Amino acid sequence: MVEQLLSSPLGEVRLRCWPHRRNERLQAWDGADRYLLEQVVAQQSARPWLVFNDSQGALAVSLSRAGQAALSCTDDWLAYAAVNANASDNGLAAPDWAWLDELPARLAQQAVGGVLFKVPRQVPLLEAQLAVLCQCLPPGMPVWLAGLDKHLPRHLREVLDTWLTQVQTLPGRFKAHGFSAVTGGAGPADADSRLAAVVDWPEQGWQLHNRAGVFAWQQVDIGARLLLQALPDSGGDVADLGCGSGVLGMAMLAQHADARVWFCDSSRQAILSAGDNVARCLPAAGSRVQFHQGNGLDELQQRFDHILLNPPFHRGAAVDTAVGKMLIRHAARHLRPDGSLRLVVNRHLDYRGALSRAFARREIIASNDKFVVWCCRP
Ligand SMILES: C[S@@+](CC[C@H](N)C(=O)[O-])C[C@H]1O[C@@H](n2cnc3c(N)ncnc32)[C@H](O)[C@@H]1O
Repeated sequence: MVEQLLSSPLGEVRLRCWPHRRNERLQAWDGADRYLLEQVVAQQSARPWLVFNDSQGALAVSLSRAGQAALSCTDDWLAYAAVNANASDNGLAAPDWAWLDELPARLAQQAVGGVLFKVPRQVPLLEAQLAVLCQCLPPGMPVWLAGLDKHLPRHLREVLDTWLTQVQTLPGRFKAHGFSAVTGGAGPADADSRLAAVVDWPEQGWQLHNRAGVFAWQQVDIGARLLLQALPDSGGDVADLGCGSGVLGMAMLAQHADARVWFCDSSRQAILSAGDNVARCLPAAGSRVQFHQGNGLDELQQRFDHILLNPPFHRGAAVDTAVGKMLIRHAARHLRPDGSLRLVVNRHLDYRGALSRAFARREIIASNDKFVVWCCRP
């Protein structure tokens, strides 16, 4: 059983990873959370803290426990759900929340006292978040950052020096390092190309514009490329489950004039990128698309003729097929009786058990040295 009681100078809170799983192996906080919680005590603020990338609520829920307010921002709907669930489990109100694209408007109305920043592993997402600080906060606002040593990006210090000022590397603790800085950096001259990737896709004659933090943001993923060769030969109602930049659903829209596609992802940047890409590359398809940010197909009543899935196989930093297996179960529940799931997976990861429990009929319809594509039917 993993430890659930997080003790910090702000008090004790009970935290569980969300979605809840039997025999959970992951603890809901890490050394970087503990590092930042120590800094908060040293730097009490009367105004709310702006908190980035708090994946399960270690920061925002602990602040709330100590009577300090937080405005929380991450890219992931699962983090949003986790923070709310853990606040509620501790008898506390849900912390205030804004997605990154909403933050400029929110910060124009609401003053914050300082910034607590868990450094994300993807540098583009980090830079997109720092860009908002650079644009929207007054100079001189304190910013405290921390990340686990094993996850810190290699050129982190250079990146921080570009967007912030007075950056100092702090001593290591809890297998993490911290940095203190203040807002007021100028940002890089090439900011636009660092915050969005333009990807040519000559096979389709399209140019994708992907926001920072989206999976495979500078290319069409090689697993997705194999699945693109094995798409269904009819349209109907289609879910692009874990859509990322939207490549799979967009190909269905282009190939089948009767296809209606639900682009589904837990990442806000992914959903916004898929929306931008459909509008830019398939402007006439606007009436055939829907967008759903959430956990898989939860909250959707819709049944589908086809579901396309290139599943995530990490949770945080760890290789973990649990999310992929959960999405396979979602697919089985949301298919029409004559529908099909097309799934591309790495050869070395074993989904056979999950597929055979969820689907009566399964066959491999494409493969190469790295990936296989399954077609599964109820
Ligand atoms: C391997 S990427 C595939 C992206 C895209 N379909 C492609 O083929 O390039 C997996 C996607 O699943 C999303 N994802 C991860 N967990 C999810 C969840 N619980 N619900 C919905 N989407 C999720 C990730 O944000 C990511 O965009």
